[in-house]
Amino acid sequence: MKKNIVLIGFMGTGKTTVGKKVAEKISLSFIDSDEEIVKKSGMSINEIFNRFGEEYFRKIEGEVIEELSNLEGYVISTGGGIVKNQENILNLKGKGAIIYLNGSAKKIEENIKKDADNRPLLKTDNVLNKIISLLEERKDLYRKAMDFEIIIDSLSVDEVAEKVIDIYRSI
Ligand code: S3P
Repeated sequence: MKKNIVLIGFMGTGKTTVGKKVAEKISLSFIDSDEEIVKKSGMSINEIFNRFGEEYFRKIEGEVIEELSNLEGYVISTGGGIVKNQENILNLKGKGAIIYLNGSAKKIEENIKKDADNRPLLKTDNVLNKIISLLEERKDLYRKAMDFEIIIDSLSVDEVAEKVIDIYRSI
């Protein structure tokens, strides 16, 4: 069985950018759970949240993660909230390395500035406070779900990608 790399972590930690880079460098296929949700529902992430709410989004997300967990030889980038549902982690466990991209709230805020509109949970006046409180809520969940952790704050995208590749080669 060809193993997967599963990238987890908060919004704005570079899961998609890093995932694409890694896949390219070591010739694995790449797939992103948010993109699959958009394809499956025929709506943007914003539209799903606005029209049907977070609970509905989580339901489709769960279905997508279950489908993706059957893949082999993929880099799978996941949405920042998959850890809220233990079932997602149970589905992904044992099918490859689950790597937590861990960034500070400040770093995440900086990264997200470029793409805040696409993140319905961060549509608020004080984005940093919201990041801090969501991170607080989730940090133990990421820890519990992960097999490996990469602290991204002082690393470039290429450096994070190299660390992911080192981990993949070690498993
Ligand atoms: C979410 C993260 C987003 C997306 C949705 C909810 C979250 O994905 O799935 O907006 O709850 O953290 P990214 O982590 O790719 O931004």
